Amino acid sequence: MPVIVAPSLLASDFTAVAETLKTVGASGADWLHLDVMDGRFVPNITFGAKMVADIKPLAPCPLDVHLMIVEPDKHIEDFAKAGAAYITFHAEAAVHSHRLVEAIHNAGVKAGVSIVPSTPVSVIEILLPYVDLVLIMTVNPGFGGQHFIPECHTKIEQLNALRASSGASFLISADGGINAENAAAVHAAGADILVMGSAFFNQHDKQALVQHLHKIKV
Ligand code: DX5
Ligand code: ZN
Repeated sequence: MPVIVAPSLLASDFTAVAETLKTVGASGADWLHLDVMDGRFVPNITFGAKMVADIKPLAPCPLDVHLMIVEPDKHIEDFAKAGAAYITFHAEAAVHSHRLVEAIHNAGVKAGVSIVPSTPVSVIEILLPYVDLVLIMTVNPGFGGQHFIPECHTKIEQLNALRASSGASFLISADGGINAENAAAVHAAGADILVMGSAFFNQHDKQALVQHLHKIKV
């Protein structure tokens, strides 16, 4: 399966969202990654469910909603109604992660769990049979344009090994500091989805970038 390319809206101009959605569609990218930040779980604030709902009818691809918020359980219904295809919450922000996965599924949405760079993979091991996606943060969440933290590469490999040994079928997503140069190595480590913010939006020929990424072989 070719790698799933998920441009992150965070790196785009928020006054030109409709234009950005056309650009993303024309590039051949597979998913649109939407970073929801609350200024509490992470220092930055972005947007909420209304933005997702407004994007939905114009979206050229599935909406991959990444919740970097405290008390994610309070907002699942809103993001499900807004049209998210995947809702990913942070294990560090949820007390009852297993229940939350169930709530996301009951809302008719695929469920993802994420961990920040300092959280070990073992923390989410018990959730692996239940989730559709695991997002490994490869920078500290909150901002685009940061450098990939090298130790996170090993975490993707560990997760990939756990997936193989358990027979579970979740997708592995890598988020933060991914670019055309390190994409092949991140995919080889086990990431099926490459979230790309600044490297995508700073690229002049986005279609060529996506084509290049789709050709990466493990
Ligand atoms: C960071 C966000 C990322 C961000 C990635 O907290 O979760 O999705 O948009 O941006 P880049 O690719 O620029 O590191
Ligand atoms: Zn993200």
